[in-house]
Amino acid sequence: MSDLGSLGDVRGKRVLVRSDLNVPLDGTTITDDGRIRASIPTIRELAEAGARVVVTAHLGRPKGAPDPAYSLEPVAARLGELLGQPVAFATDTVGESARQAVAGLADGQVAVLENVRFNEGETSKDDAVRGAFADQLAALADAFVSDGFGVVHRKQASVYDVALRLPSAMGGLVAKEIGVLRRLTVDPARPYVVVLGGSKVSDKLGVIDNLLGKADRLLIGGGMVFTFLAAQGHEVGQSLLEEDQLDTCRSYLQRAADTGVDILLPTDIVVDTAFPSGDREPEPRVVPADAIPADSLGLDIGPESGRAFAAALSDAQTVFWNGPMGVFEVAAFAEGTRAVAEALTTVPGLSVVGGGDSAAAVRKLGFDEAAFGHISTGGGASLEFLEGKELPGIAVLERDA
Ligand code: 3PG
Repeated sequence: MSDLGSLGDVRGKRVLVRSDLNVPLDGTTITDDGRIRASIPTIRELAEAGARVVVTAHLGRPKGAPDPAYSLEPVAARLGELLGQPVAFATDTVGESARQAVAGLADGQVAVLENVRFNEGETSKDDAVRGAFADQLAALADAFVSDGFGVVHRKQASVYDVALRLPSAMGGLVAKEIGVLRRLTVDPARPYVVVLGGSKVSDKLGVIDNLLGKADRLLIGGGMVFTFLAAQGHEVGQSLLEEDQLDTCRSYLQRAADTGVDILLPTDIVVDTAFPSGDREPEPRVVPADAIPADSLGLDIGPESGRAFAAALSDAQTVFWNGPMGVFEVAAFAEGTRAVAEALTTVPGLSVVGGGDSAAAVRKLGFDEAAFGHISTGGGASLEFLEGKELPGIAVLERDA
């Protein structure tokens, strides 16, 4: 449940909504609009209540200055289509265009401000710089709604500082995400199975560390698995390898053995002699995980591993999955990710797909989103939540309450 009600009657009020509209783009074409769709209910709820809705969001990681490649204009257009009402677009974030767009709103209308990260104050580590920018954002509105779950782990002006300056509330999307993730951290139903993939072990250290004390089984695939395989003494050829994490991976394998957590690593791997590129047809080959040829790199888990992972998920009462098993964007290396996604659709308990690439994979591979318990909009945010870290964008709202 959101706490929009805590703002009282919003009719005629200017409400600044921080959404996460950070969607993948190919040029100006949106390739996955999941985050825009997930942002609609809160925006619509406010508009229907008569608020003048001012949406602020980021796209990508521009360097604190305007950069047309990261403009939110195509995103604002898609938001308008999905909302079924015109959406005004301000070509700056807190300047003349933004002031005019906000001043031009009637009750129930919506405007989107240009990429908030075109301003260096948004991501500054200096509280005063961020605060000065938050003052400008706050001046555009009478109230603030935090609904960008994917950014609540960021201590940034539009997520954190603005909430200190305006009456603030948690939007329905953030409330729903937090509600589901709490079910993974507070007394999860067992067996609790976690599937981790994606390219880097170093991105997942905190979460593995924390989950080793909580999950019953940990299934590992994706680019990160090669550091684990190497830690077991296997050759990984040209596969992605983080040598500086070998000791850490060894210590996780040892801890898992000591504490009775099952870590499942793939037993077969789909390899090729080059990373997929447009110029060359993939030449996938399945090899044993302990015999990756020196000239090849692993690009997916193999079919035997896909079946083993599915079997390890079949009785799960709680599942969290973050990170694809391979280069799912290329059909030849998508089957491991498909096998995991398929298995998640039939688990008896709660299945949660962490955001980012795994959520995009589920949609790209054509799965019905309704077949999963929850598809999070937050990649880094959901991982940090599971690491047990305090999320600044949540803490600031709870402090407000
Ligand atoms: C995401 O894509 O995970 C969120 O939009 C946050 O983006 P960021 O990692 O650039 O802060």
